[in-house]
Amino acid sequence: AQQPVTIQIGKSTDSVQISKHIYGHFAEHLGRCIYDGLYVGEDNKTIPNTEGVRNDIIAALKELNIPNLRWPGGCFADTYHWKDGVGPQEDRPTIVNRWWGGTTEDNSFGTHNFLNLCEELGAEPYLSANVGSGTVQELIDWMQYTNHDGVSPMADWRRENGREEPWDVKYWGVGNETWGCGGNMTAEYYVDIYRKYATFMSDWNNTGGVYRIASGASEDDYHWTETLMKNVPHSLMDAVALHDYAVFDWNAKGPSVNFDEEIYFKSMEQALRMEEYVTKHVAIMDKYDPEGRVDLFVDEWGGWYDAEPEVQNGVLYQQNTIRDVMIAGTVLNTFNNHAKRVKMANLAQMVNVLQAVILTDEEKMIKTPTYHVMNMYKVHQDAMLLPSKIENNSQFRGLPAISVSASKGVDDTVHISLVNIDSKEQRTVEVNVADLDIKNLTAQILTSEKLQDHNSFNDPEKVVPGEFKDFKLRKGVLSIDIPAHSLIVLEGK
Ligand code: AHR
Repeated sequence: AQQPVTIQIGKSTDSVQISKHIYGHFAEHLGRCIYDGLYVGEDNKTIPNTEGVRNDIIAALKELNIPNLRWPGGCFADTYHWKDGVGPQEDRPTIVNRWWGGTTEDNSFGTHNFLNLCEELGAEPYLSANVGSGTVQELIDWMQYTNHDGVSPMADWRRENGREEPWDVKYWGVGNETWGCGGNMTAEYYVDIYRKYATFMSDWNNTGGVYRIASGASEDDYHWTETLMKNVPHSLMDAVALHDYAVFDWNAKGPSVNFDEEIYFKSMEQALRMEEYVTKHVAIMDKYDPEGRVDLFVDEWGGWYDAEPEVQNGVLYQQNTIRDVMIAGTVLNTFNNHAKRVKMANLAQMVNVLQAVILTDEEKMIKTPTYHVMNMYKVHQDAMLLPSKIENNSQFRGLPAISVSASKGVDDTVHISLVNIDSKEQRTVEVNVADLDIKNLTAQILTSEKLQDHNSFNDPEKVVPGEFKDFKLRKGVLSIDIPAHSLIVLEGK
């Protein structure tokens, strides 16, 4: 029999808050994420909607308390000219989505739709600006349009287009993947471009200020982070981004449902690398910014697979299984544990694309297993991180089998999220919670018989959370039997 895995959870010592923005989302003009996804058009009489956005999606996202939403890309952002998406529909030009499927879009979903949606959801908008094929003027006009309260060309135009109050957009990305689809730049060249853009960006008296986010590294490109941190004055940069997908081979990503044990292992091996990447990027940031002025935003993450014949349903449409539960649970634990520097993360992507929380098929909508992870983990939003240490983790083919993070909410409720990635074996975990004043415990589990299990339009509730009781609390030690490939969130009061 396996030795129990022992975990120590201490009191919150250095007041690190887990920013709610770690639980952020991303919606790009890609496949069926926007059009025929969340947006069905105002004239749609079959699917109930608010300003063209599906009401069932709005309700599902509200339940998740989504804190922020990044838009319009992704690679699409560096081709997008926002002025083409405001004003009367008949005057809007089309745009060919040259990165994703070559589809022609009519620009009917634009700035007003997006910002009104964020307002409806109570989510902070995060606008990703066009640096690759745009101009500084275009960006500062966008900022004036969305944020200026006084008399100005763009604020006046906004009013003409039906919106009196500014939206006060705080989060602004200066290009996306500027090392790739955003312009194939070197880090050194982007530094100068970034400095120029950041100089002209203004908050236009937005009371919350603005956050300027530099397009960041991919995976282990530490040179990129180092070049930015060293050469951009920190007064010009509020956050540096990082993108990391759980992809083990970009030329053969494997199927989203019909994967075997070996592919599962490789996916998890790659997903767990997030811990290493974040640790090393943070170490570079600590070196150049010991005061912690500049945040790390992991503004694209998630699983990315090859389309399977039976699920070909738009560009980058994929199904979502227990493997995705394992990816989301372990990666979110990493973000929680690095909450001192990681202040935002955006799961790619929200609807019908990559590791989506929602899938749609005409009038039907389903919540994926990843939706349920985000729902179970929302208890960590803005809670205080409790330091957790795994003392003798057991191995799943050389990978750490158990992952953990813990937090304490404003009402002193403690939450511990645990993941056992082992595809076959359960693990007994002993958590020392003597430092925490816990009297009553309840728990929820998310798992299913097979790793490949998923929710479909015919069986939308195959993978849903259930009550979990296989634990004991005795003399400050919480002993839990965590089944294979399962995720558990415990609540202690
Ligand atoms: O999320 C899909 C794509 O992945 C985004 O457009 C791009 O930024 C990244 O490469």
